[in-house]
Amino acid sequence: MAIPSDVHARTGGQTIRRIVYSQEEIARRVAEMGRDISAHYPAGEELLVLGLLKGSFIFVADLVREIARPLHVDFLVASSYGAGTVSTGEVRLVYDPEADLAGRHVLLVEDIIDSGNTLNRLVPMLEQRGPKSLELCALLHKRIAPHLVRDARWVGFEAPPEFLIGYGLDHSENYRNLPFIASL
Ligand code: IMP
Ligand code: MG
Repeated sequence: MAIPSDVHARTGGQTIRRIVYSQEEIARRVAEMGRDISAHYPAGEELLVLGLLKGSFIFVADLVREIARPLHVDFLVASSYGAGTVSTGEVRLVYDPEADLAGRHVLLVEDIIDSGNTLNRLVPMLEQRGPKSLELCALLHKRIAPHLVRDARWVGFEAPPEFLIGYGLDHSENYRNLPFIASL
């Protein structure tokens, strides 16, 4: 796929290896996911979409606009990565949602499932709060996690074994603003 001419302006001159998912492909897939999610949840029951910051912020913004039912949105911040590209295995909750999970359908939204560490630590914590249901939705899934306490019901794309950036995904906080997903 051709790399758009404004990419250098967005990356500060850093070159990217290749575009893995274009803006158009992402939009199509997110719309499909929104339709599937809308069909899954019973009408009239409360749905809370819980985005994992920061990586999911763009995905959540696009996804909720493709979900054709009433819902609430909140976020939580779990920090699992330092400045590098290798998971440290440690997960810290830096921001905890104000929202009450008890009795509500909770849809936890991840940008990418890599080692599964983040979800394996978060899912039991959230389950303790008594949601009516807890499902996971991930834009990308690397399928390398040795064990997942709960797998994602909805996955946007099977991610290649590369470090991905863009559409919310960062490398040391850079590149979140790329409108497509690329590999570094
Ligand atoms: P996990 O806990 O290893 O599953 O990874 C969770 C978090 O690591 C994701 O939510 C991302 O923020 C980050 N991450 C994992 N792989 C990548 C990648 O390829 N690019 C950017 N961030 C990643
Ligand atoms: Mg993240």
